Amino acid sequence: MERTVIADTVNKISQTVLLKGWVNTRRDHGKIVFLDLRDRSGLVQVVATPEIAGKIGPEWVITVAGVVKNRPEKLVNPKIPTGTVEIEAKGIDVLAQSETPPFPLETEGHDIDEETRLKYRYLDLRRPRLQRNLRLRNEVIQKMRRYLLERGFWEVETPILTKATPEGARDFLVPSRLQPGNFYALPQSPQQYKQLLMVAGVEKYFQIARCFRDEDPRADRAYGEFTQLDIEMSFVAQEEIRNLVEELYIEIVTEIFPGKKISQIPFPALTYAEAMKKYGTDKPDLRKDKNDPNELAFGWIVDFPLFEWKEQENRWDAMHHPFTAPKAEDIDFLYYGDPKDFGKLRADQYDFVLNGFEIGGGSIRIADPKLQARIFEILGHSPANIEKKFGHLLSAFRYGVPPHGGIAPGIDRFLMVILNEPTLREVIAFPTSASGRTAVMEAPSNVDEEQLKELKIKIPQK
Ligand code: AMO
Repeated sequence: MERTVIADTVNKISQTVLLKGWVNTRRDHGKIVFLDLRDRSGLVQVVATPEIAGKIGPEWVITVAGVVKNRPEKLVNPKIPTGTVEIEAKGIDVLAQSETPPFPLETEGHDIDEETRLKYRYLDLRRPRLQRNLRLRNEVIQKMRRYLLERGFWEVETPILTKATPEGARDFLVPSRLQPGNFYALPQSPQQYKQLLMVAGVEKYFQIARCFRDEDPRADRAYGEFTQLDIEMSFVAQEEIRNLVEELYIEIVTEIFPGKKISQIPFPALTYAEAMKKYGTDKPDLRKDKNDPNELAFGWIVDFPLFEWKEQENRWDAMHHPFTAPKAEDIDFLYYGDPKDFGKLRADQYDFVLNGFEIGGGSIRIADPKLQARIFEILGHSPANIEKKFGHLLSAFRYGVPPHGGIAPGIDRFLMVILNEPTLREVIAFPTSASGRTAVMEAPSNVDEEQLKELKIKIPQK
């Protein structure tokens, strides 16, 4: 017999069905046993005799052959979609037994120690809240893909083993065996590769891209890795990129989160100066009613300063990243102006905000190798250092570079906000803990002496 998924049982009254799933709970009532059976689609009550139910316990994997019956009016459970029916079991097969789980799975789980939840993440993910989060994350990502593919974008993968690309965090390094003493860096973003793809003539690129950053974690900032919808386009201006993203997010909300309400369409745009003056932050919460869990206040922050002064390092740093173009009217000042006034220069940069979080950032890029070299110089790189770190990009720009720009909305952060979750970890299948340990696998860990020898790495004894 073919399997019926649990959500479908309500359409099969009086029919014999074969269900497969996990035992959510077991209640013994003398001559009958109630088993709540769970699969990805939902929960249903199974009624069995003690003989059929045997020793079956919570989280066992079973198949149930049985008849779908309407429940008597007064026994209907309005809390679950299958609450009008129950399954009268004719036979049960055990596919796998289960030990008692280390924590309850039918609760929301917020009160359970997070390190323990992550150690047993494969169990933690069984709770309905996290199943919902995974399903909706998947729907959002598929929608992003369809939307961009329909508009002629190509999805292109870029390397993970690469050279450092600066986004303001520390790099993760990977030692090379073939060239001992040398290291790959994991990309903080695909920024330079996506610009090289524009030089390569791809014109419209996107990628569901993993980014790696060694920075101190916060509720809305993942330690280690996170995911961006990375986008780059040639021959565009800022408005086109913003409109593309704005329309995408409106469609995501209307199709996938119909219960949510967007405060203002088109999304309001504020300059950085206005935002700082009015709200004291560059990621203002623009909601009309901050107690409303279903209000989504999207907005754009534009006209960022090009540089920010790093007091400790006594130098200018890029506000976004060093590939961001200055406003056209500010370019001359970079060559002829007084460096102490560089703080006045503005960038062709835009941040995407939602309910007080920065959910994306992008810019029009520098496409002039001379200007790019000048920016690196202002940021404190020596000519030799520029050649060593960024020579590849400057040389690519000497072979016909189109004007280009892009953006990278953070997928985890958007989901955290729209699902009203307290941390990013609730919307990631296998997140790294706040203390930097990976879920289930417990990295980082020691490696064999042999591996270190191959890499010619010596760890000093304490
Ligand atoms: P940026 O560094 O601003 O830009 O990142 C873009 C967006 O990615 C998300 N984000 C994060 N999410 C979770 N954890 C983190 N540690 C984290 N860091 C960033 C945020 C942020 O707005 N290459 C540029 C984009 C571009 O210019 O096209 C970049 O990476 O939502």
